[in-house]
Amino acid sequence: MKILLINGPNLNMLGNRDKGLYGSYSLETIQDQVVAIGEKVGLEVECFQSNSEGDIIDFLQEKSAESSGVIINPGALTHYSIALRDALVDSNLPVVEVHLSNIYARESWRHISVIAPISLGQISGLGYRSYGLAMWFIADYLKEGT
Ligand code: DQA
Repeated sequence: MKILLINGPNLNMLGNRDKGLYGSYSLETIQDQVVAIGEKVGLEVECFQSNSEGDIIDFLQEKSAESSGVIINPGALTHYSIALRDALVDSNLPVVEVHLSNIYARESWRHISVIAPISLGQISGLGYRSYGLAMWFIADYLKEGT
């Protein structure tokens, strides 16, 4: 079984972005951590990052049939992308939304996620650990079937 780990705009710059908000790990390091958890629990992880909304939607459309779940940090797309939300719904996959920063402790417009209502749940504000926790969750969720 394969999990899609998707990161949206600007997350390729982790390590250089505001470290107080996003930590000092690079995206590659975070991805490696999630892949390592996948190896422990017997799940393949396919990682994808793009600064383009359309590329993320194309990736989802291409990969959903062969996948069992999605962990996504949509970056700023979180707050407005109905197109990404629709693509996630159309994938028919369980979705976990993750954020490094606590979006509820920031500007009021970041408090709105158009992705959260169609996700199983959201992990926000736990830094790089948000991703690993999402991976542990999805492994258990798939094992238990609920
Ligand atoms: C983010 C939060 C978003 O509001 C922001 O646009 C990002 C990163 C996070 O991981 O904390 O790019 O998704």
